Amino acid sequence: MAPVIRWVWLPFLDLSLPIQRTTNRARAAHNGYGNVMITTSLALIVLLASSVSGPSVSFSQDVLPILNKHCVMCHITGAAQGGLDIYPDPWTAMVGVPSSQSPLALIEPGSPERSYLVSKLIGTQQTVSGSGLQMPFPQPLDDEEIKMIRVWIEQGAANN
Ligand code: HEC
Repeated sequence: MAPVIRWVWLPFLDLSLPIQRTTNRARAAHNGYGNVMITTSLALIVLLASSVSGPSVSFSQDVLPILNKHCVMCHITGAAQGGLDIYPDPWTAMVGVPSSQSPLALIEPGSPERSYLVSKLIGTQQTVSGSGLQMPFPQPLDDEEIKMIRVWIEQGAANN
């Protein structure tokens, strides 16, 4: 969440600096304009912040079906490929659990960037000192599915 908030605040700072200069030069004439600009940029911040966090993603309803459909067949007791057994409880198997391939946790609540699972899904595992193939193979998840998992982690990876 922190990098998002920083990014969202920047346009506000950019807009408010010229406003301050303007109001100093001709306070009476431009006060109204300045207020409009400030209000507009505040509205923008609220808009951006809400579109980033969006509706809450549910683990059981949104994430679990993706894992059951695309991952469990290879990551199940007796055939736990890569040493990863996510059935029947993928939440306990991955949230806060160290990866066996990289120094990262499989899922770091609140941080998709520090979640090795996300690197494996988008194919950047080599850049975080990991190894192996992009998951699942041979066919990666589609963008919507990856986004769902990413947003769920960003929102705290709740067991909800
Ligand atoms: C066809 C079998 C297969 C499928 C399907 C598959 N995996 Fe894997 N997975 C493997 C194998 C084999 C490895 C170890 C070698 C590698 O990483 O390429 C592995 C490794 C992993 C690792 C690394 C484990 C660690 O401790 O670092 C993760 C995470 C992972 N898989 C997640 C998934 C997820 C999530 C899915 C579904 C979206 C998935 N896999 C689908 C076979 C599979």
